[in-house]
Amino acid sequence: MPRILIAGCGYLGQATADLLHERGWKVEGWTASAPSARQLAAKPYAVRAVDVTNRAAVSSVHEEFDVVIQCASSGGGDAEEYRRIYLAGARNLLHAFPRTSLLFTSSTSVYAQKRGDIVDETSPANPAHEKGQILREAEELVLSHNGMVARLGGIYGPGRSFLLRKFLAGEGVPDDAGDHFVNQVHRDDIVSALLLLVERRADLGRQIYNVVDNQPILARDTYQWLSAKLQRSLLTGKVAAGRKRGDSNKRVSNRKLRALGWEPRYPNFVVAMTESILPSFGFEG
Ligand SMILES: NC(=O)c1ccc[n+]([C@@H]2O[C@H](COP(=O)([O-])OP(=O)(O)OC[C@H]3O[C@@H](n4cnc5c(N)ncnc54)[C@H](OP(=O)(O)O)[C@@H]3O)[C@@H](O)[C@H]2O)c1
Repeated sequence: MPRILIAGCGYLGQATADLLHERGWKVEGWTASAPSARQLAAKPYAVRAVDVTNRAAVSSVHEEFDVVIQCASSGGGDAEEYRRIYLAGARNLLHAFPRTSLLFTSSTSVYAQKRGDIVDETSPANPAHEKGQILREAEELVLSHNGMVARLGGIYGPGRSFLLRKFLAGEGVPDDAGDHFVNQVHRDDIVSALLLLVERRADLGRQIYNVVDNQPILARDTYQWLSAKLQRSLLTGKVAAGRKRGDSNKRVSNRKLRALGWEPRYPNFVVAMTESILPSFGFEG
């Protein structure tokens, strides 16, 4: 039975752990806090609180794993928090499990392209913002230890959608002047991608894969679609709030991952909203 550690058993980590357990893997999940671990006590696999930023705590774990997926999140913290969670976290995991394959969940925010360019894994990834630079450093560290990197688009899924929440809060502003593409991916499609990557890790080796749906979409189009679908008007005349991670504007390609046979169950925003996300928020799909 292959053994896997999900270091960061949150929104994505839990769904990944559930599927891997179903597929016969021996799973262990880690959270930062004991209360989060206790909430998962009914899971059919072990979940415990081990802080990836604490080298002594990570090194004191004596279990062996075939694969570790690092998907702890900084929860939107500052650059210092990024350094701790992503970079020190990766260092600690590599140090504690030197013979184990590490799959690091990074972000498509590392691509800084600005003109709506199509970007793939061979495109420059030179983020202007410090948090992106820290992610790149963590990626390089993992790759230099023969690990893999999954660059995830914005995660949405049951109970989670940044754009829908903004829209419902009246903050979904069609921003004609500075409109940009959003690159998203449904949680369950990330899970199927991670499963494929860990199953095929021996043939794939050190690689980067973008994990996004098939169709980047303009932010304005998402709000207009939601407005028509939910029959609520958009607040116009408001100024769109500044974006968190600078002003990149790109269309991220998933071609490399699809060439492995992966197909997203939710290929675009409309299908994901209609068939999964709106119903999970209590709306008709
Ligand atoms: N959200 C997005 O749109 C997005 C986009 C691109 C990439 N990503 C990446 O995707 C991954 C998963 O994100 P998510 O949305 O599933 O995050 P999440 O729901 O916030 O879950 C994070 C999990 O990590 C745990 N954690 C946090 N700090 C930890 C630490 N120091 N040691 C051990 N565990 C720790 C948390 O435990 P507690 O509950 O105890 O805090 C929680 O279980 C992250 O790597 C994130 O950067 C996310």
